[in-house]
Amino acid sequence: MPRPAPPTSGPSSDIDLFSHATLTDPYPAYATLRDLGPAVHLPRHDIWALPRYDEALAVLKDSDTFVSDEAVALTDLANTTILKGTVLAADGPVHARLRRPLSRQLGRRALAGRRPDVHELADATVRRHVTAGTFDAAEMVREFVAGIVLEWMGLPEVTRDTVLDAAAAIFDAFGPESERYFKALPVAGAMAAFLAQEVTRDKVRPDSWLGALYDAADEGLIHQTDVVPLMSAYVAAGLDTTILGLTTTLRLLAEHPEQYERLRGETPASSPVGAFTEALRIEAPVQGFGRKASRDTHIGDVAIPEGSQVWVLYGSTGRDARKWGDTADTFDIDRPDSADHLTLGAGAHTCAGNHLATLQGEALLTALAAQVPALKPAGTPEREFNQVLRGHATLPLTVA
Ligand code: HEM
Repeated sequence: MPRPAPPTSGPSSDIDLFSHATLTDPYPAYATLRDLGPAVHLPRHDIWALPRYDEALAVLKDSDTFVSDEAVALTDLANTTILKGTVLAADGPVHARLRRPLSRQLGRRALAGRRPDVHELADATVRRHVTAGTFDAAEMVREFVAGIVLEWMGLPEVTRDTVLDAAAAIFDAFGPESERYFKALPVAGAMAAFLAQEVTRDKVRPDSWLGALYDAADEGLIHQTDVVPLMSAYVAAGLDTTILGLTTTLRLLAEHPEQYERLRGETPASSPVGAFTEALRIEAPVQGFGRKASRDTHIGDVAIPEGSQVWVLYGSTGRDARKWGDTADTFDIDRPDSADHLTLGAGAHTCAGNHLATLQGEALLTALAAQVPALKPAGTPEREFNQVLRGHATLPLTVA
């Protein structure tokens, strides 16, 4: 695809979405971008940022005009190495082929029988951590989410730490060239080779997600060469996203005791799924992903030339007052339409793990509400810095 000509129309801004200051608090930058227009050119990285809800949704739903192949990350190197062959970066029939085996494993029906196990694990994990009185909620969430995802993947025991350590690096490598990017690139790049060597058919559990990928290749549903890139659907996409999303939910509930009380209330209690969904709306764990325009087009009234790199700002769409009204910045677990958020994507690439993430959120919050009368912050949480992900690495909380 040819590089686009410099834009001749449309709003422009010198905001750096990936600076330390913006990663620390992106919301003032997002508000500025939303005021500037539906698509704002950022010359610093030669990308079009999409900060508003309606136009971001339209772009996500139009996967013929806004393609994902060689477009999700901001560098050619990441697009042609780390992302090549993954479901996230595929279009059309190739995307449909890659998505099918994932839907079998991650669909609502596949998960129904596993609900009791997830609730049981949530109950036990919460109990173990909260008995100390003060605990690191990020560590609790990590243990719970990784315990499910790594186990259900059927990963050999010896590979689990490597996979957990590399997951965030993969997202860092989606951003522009920077100190973070160059540090992450070798770690993310080594992942495919590691999976190909260490996660072979004879080493994965047969009745697992990865076992099912090898079976799908044997049945001819996918190609043998699809198996390793498809593993990233679980390895990269299924860990830090949910871990950060749930950690943020607990931070927001601790900071808003009246909302936590509503979650525990009885007449009727607010829904744990509603609380998780609202936290995802207001603090998206994935702040942005890319697309490229496959033809000359428009986003709102802004002309977008063929080949342009766009950057869908999920993190900004959840705060757009055009969609959410005057309370866009307020955390409200009973918000009736919070499930409209774009934090789990929309259109063809809607998160394949959305039912699992929701089940994990529901189970952990149900266990917490049953066991913990009140939650309070017990110190300053440490932010996890990443070019794409947002959330906290630690979250000290006290139970009352
Ligand atoms: C709160 C947790 C999660 C968040 C915020 C999240 C976010 C997202 C987003 C924004 C997309 C859309 C990408 C795009 O438009 O290009 C996506 C896609 C995807 N997610 Fe998630 N995700 C979460 C949990 C999970 C889990 C638990 C899994 C698997 C175990 C998973 C697997 C995937 C896969 C495979 C895709 C690609 C789908 C496709 O391209 O067709 N995600 N996710």
